[in-house]
Amino acid sequence: MDALLELDGVTKSFGGLVAVRNLSFSIGEGEILGLIGPNGAGKTTVFNLISGVYRPEAGSIRFDGKVISGLKPHEVSSLGVARTFQTVRPFARMSARENVMTGLLFGRGGINAPRRATQKALEMLESVSLLDKAEVRAGRLTLAEQRRLELARALATSPKLLMLDEVVAGLNHSEMNAMVDLLRRIQPERRMALIVIEHVMKAIVRLCNRIVVMNGGEKLVEGSPSEVMRDERVVAAYMGRRGNGGESTTTFSSAPQ
Ligand SMILES: Nc1ncnc2c1ncn2[C@@H]1O[C@H](COP(=O)(O)OP(=O)(O)OP(=O)(O)O)[C@@H](O)[C@H]1O
Ligand SMILES: [Mg+2]
Repeated sequence: MDALLELDGVTKSFGGLVAVRNLSFSIGEGEILGLIGPNGAGKTTVFNLISGVYRPEAGSIRFDGKVISGLKPHEVSSLGVARTFQTVRPFARMSARENVMTGLLFGRGGINAPRRATQKALEMLESVSLLDKAEVRAGRLTLAEQRRLELARALATSPKLLMLDEVVAGLNHSEMNAMVDLLRRIQPERRMALIVIEHVMKAIVRLCNRIVVMNGGEKLVEGSPSEVMRDERVVAAYMGRRGNGGESTTTFSSAPQ
């Protein structure tokens, strides 16, 4: 089977810093892939490269049979790639429903009749258990609710590939479990592929059967969760980190914000 998404030798630097170096991996339709690594490993930059925020200096990115490296974010989005952001950024003064409607009116679904968009937005909110908050301003929602709202907004574009950047960060244990349960329910229903960046290994293990580990911009290891967690190079990469006052956010259990 052809891959849905394929990165081949992708490199991106910022000034003298190579944030992503010669990175290759692929994901098939309907697959869930974990992307992990210590802080600064280059994970979010990978999402920015795939979604068209940055253009790779070397290598190529193919999605659904087309080369997408070099396309603009709205062009990549219209092909069926959606994402959430590491730091939630809803339109705070708009209601939850209006936030989701922006995804519907501008996304791949191409819904431009406001009545249909309203109805669809309410369905999306229901699918993430936010229907009762539809008319509440997004800025007034809790963090867990804002993360589900971002998910609803991304889902509203009907993606074939959804990229989640630390979607359980900052959530408490039961909120985290609820989010993982939600993802496990909606992913097969929509038959979309997921790439999940996550520091919380419990969440990764419950979601993914394959993980790519990055360190210093490069792919360090790729394998099943148990293979990856046993791998000495992975342990060393996490242990070897210094410089954040000993308060490592990249242990296998804690969740950074
Ligand atoms: N726009 C930018 N300008 C300059 N440097 C950047 C930029 N974006 C990222 N970097 C640097 O590139 C490296 C990779 O950053 P990135 O955000 O991709 O890491 P990450 O793996 O997502 O880390 P974290 O787990 O902390 O979110 C870091 O050293 C970061 O400081
Ligand atoms: Mg990041």
